[in-house]
Order: sequence, then structure tokens, then C-alpha cells
Amino acid sequence: MQAERSSAEPLRAGVVGLGYAGEQHLKNYVRVPGVEAVALAGLEEEKLNELGERYGVPDLYTSWEDLVARDDLDIVSIGAPNHLHAPIAIAALEGGRHVLCEKPLARTGAEAERIVSSAREANRAVHIAFTQRERGDVQALKRHVDEGNLGRIYHAKATWMRRNGIPGMGGWFTSKELAGGGPLIDLGVHMIDMALYLMGEPEVESVSCATYAELGPQGRGGWAGKGLMQGDKPYEVEDLATAFIRLAGGATLNLEAGWAVYRESSDDFGVTLYGTDGGAEMKVRNYGTSDTVRIYTDVAGVPAVVTPEIAPREGHLAVVRRFVETIRGGDWEGQFGEDGLSRARIIDACYASAMENREVSLGEIATEETV
Ligand SMILES: NC(=O)c1ccc[n+]([C@@H]2O[C@H](COP(=O)([O-])OP(=O)(O)OC[C@H]3O[C@@H](n4cnc5c(N)ncnc54)[C@H](O)[C@@H]3O)[C@@H](O)[C@H]2O)c1
Repeated sequence: MQAERSSAEPLRAGVVGLGYAGEQHLKNYVRVPGVEAVALAGLEEEKLNELGERYGVPDLYTSWEDLVARDDLDIVSIGAPNHLHAPIAIAALEGGRHVLCEKPLARTGAEAERIVSSAREANRAVHIAFTQRERGDVQALKRHVDEGNLGRIYHAKATWMRRNGIPGMGGWFTSKELAGGGPLIDLGVHMIDMALYLMGEPEVESVSCATYAELGPQGRGGWAGKGLMQGDKPYEVEDLATAFIRLAGGATLNLEAGWAVYRESSDDFGVTLYGTDGGAEMKVRNYGTSDTVRIYTDVAGVPAVVTPEIAPREGHLAVVRRFVETIRGGDWEGQFGEDGLSRARIIDACYASAMENREVSLGEIATEETV
């Protein structure tokens, strides 16, 4: 385990992954004070050299094991495919590093539990890049909810839907083994996180979920029209998932997550909240940041709509800033990846429900390593 760094020295971060996620981690370690990116790992050598040069990272590796084996890192940041989240996180935690992990924390609740137990044992923080909850509009809605303006929220809807948005068709994203699932684990995890965060983290009691794989297996619905090619992995995951989720206290949540369905040609997500004293709706079209929120209330006894002006906020920047502040502040009690674990268990229950064609309670899918 490395020596504790003095408060004047920047934290030393190593990033695994050269795709969108890895580059976001890297870019923000450069922007946020109190941390520096000293190591980068990824399989694509040309990209590795290019990113290393662009962000001034001195040490480059073509395998994550070599990066994690260093004894001078404070942070390991994971922007790798989902099947590598648990092995990288656990090795890093056992070596005494803090971990910033991309969503989903892991492919299953059991894997997520192993990460959380390792973090507790090592007393090192695990943060998950739930970047969408950091958006300016979600944060503004959260303040609105926390001020009590909606009263008690008794029903919510959360949706992320694309027309042609299967990522990496024929690669790791569409392999059950490597990704753990399709749009439910990829996009749905953001929307479950966002809805539960806004609702004040109610316990999930049960889920009734259905999954479909209609377009993907036919090679339709890929980003930029990309279809399955010879030599690709078969399309093994759902392309649409829908779930009805019962929460403690009687509230409910409707979830919908789709990579590819016949609908508008856009990439849209949003949340609707129905409360006893007010309602709210956030609709984000193609990752836009303006005019996304409507708040429904009564003014002088008649229905009124408020359209707040909300400044945009970058998700990965906010995540990295919060993570670095937590570690520099020296107190990460209760920040061992528990929120990633709770989302992983809900997703386990959704896949079990879809497979068994029935409502599944969260208690039924508790695993042997319950923490
Ligand atoms: N929070 C967000 O907004 C967001 C956005 C995109 C992706 N993600 C998540 O980030 C993760 C990565 O997604 P992506 O789209 O960047 O994927 P990607 O396929 O573009 O990149 C994955 C990277 O991992 C590297 N890698 C694979 N095996 C490796 C190994 N053995 N050693 C070292 N490096 C290895 C690859 O070389 C590649 O550079 C996923 O978990 C995904 O869900 C999150």
C-alpha cells in the first residue's frame, strides 16, 4: 500500500480505457485541481500514444494489469468494458487505490458486492460515474424536490430511447458475457439512478420487467447505420427493456430503456415526477441542455407551468471533481460503491423477472455475499 500523500501534492491517477469514457476521465483529471493523470492503459496502441500525448500522461500501458501493479497510484479510474470493472476495481482496491468506476458498477449484483466488500476491507472509496444525475437540470430538480415543492412523489417515469443507437454492434456491448446486458444495464442504469436519486432513494421492493430483442439480432439499429459484419460476435442482449418497479411506501416507477425501436430518429431521455403538491418533467433531446424542465404547480388556484432557466453542467467534470474532493477531504465513509450495488441488484431482479415472466421481489435475488 502506498504512503499517504501530503496535502500539497496532487493525487496520482491511472486511467484504464481509451474510448469515450476513458477520455472523459483523463480530460477531467487534467482540468480538476489536486489530481494528475500519470498513467493510461488501453489496447489500441495508436490511440494510447495519441491520448497520452494530448493529455500529457507520462506512462502508457497496453494492459490494465501493468497499470494497476504500480505502487505509486492513489486512484485507478475504470473506463473499460463492463466485464473488466470488477477485476480491475478489486485488484486496485487490494493494492490500496481509490476507484472511480464507470457505470454500471458491474455486470451483476454478486460482482458489485465483491467490489463493495473489497472497498470496505481496504477502506478505499469507490465512486461510480453516474454522470447524468450531475446534469444541471437534474440537480435543479433535486433541489426543487428537496425543498418539498412536489410534496410526496407517488409515481415516476424514467425513459431513455433511441431509434438507431446500439453501441458497438458486434463488439463487447452486444455480448451478454462481456456487457452483462443491453440497454437496461447501459442506459436503464442511468435512469434508475436518476429516478431513485430524485425520489430520495426509496427501497425497491419488486420489479416486473420485459425485455425484447427484435432489431439487434437482425443487424438493425446500430449507431451510424452500422450492422453486424462477418466475424462479429452474435447479438446476444435485449434491444428494449420495460419495467414496472414498486417502491417502499407505495410509490411506483415506470422504466423504459431502448437502443433501437421504430420511433423518432433521436436519442432522448427524461424523467417525470408526479407528487401530491406538484409535478415535474425533464425531457432531454439529443443530449441538449436548454429548456429541458417543466414544473407543474398551482398559482392562485389555477394550473401553472414554470420553465426554469438552468445552466448546463458537465457530468464527468462534476463526477471527477466530487471524487477528488472526497479523497482529498479524507472522509469516504459510506462511499464504497453502495449506490452502484443497489442499482446492480435492481437490474438483476429485472433480468430475472423478464426471464421468468413474473414479478420478482428484491429479497428473492439477494446473493450469498449479502453485505
Ligand atoms: N457515464 C457515461 O456517460 C458513459 C459513456 C460511455 C460509456 N460509459 C461506460 O464506460 C465503459 C467503457 O465504455 P466506452 O464506450 O468508452 O467503451 P470502448 O469500447 O470505446 O472503450 C473501452 C476501452 O477499454 C480498453 N480495454 C479493453 N480491454 C482492456 C485491457 N485488457 N487492458 C486495458 N484496456 C482494455 C479498450 O482498449 C478500450 O480503449 C463502459 O462501462 C460504459 O458503460 C459511460
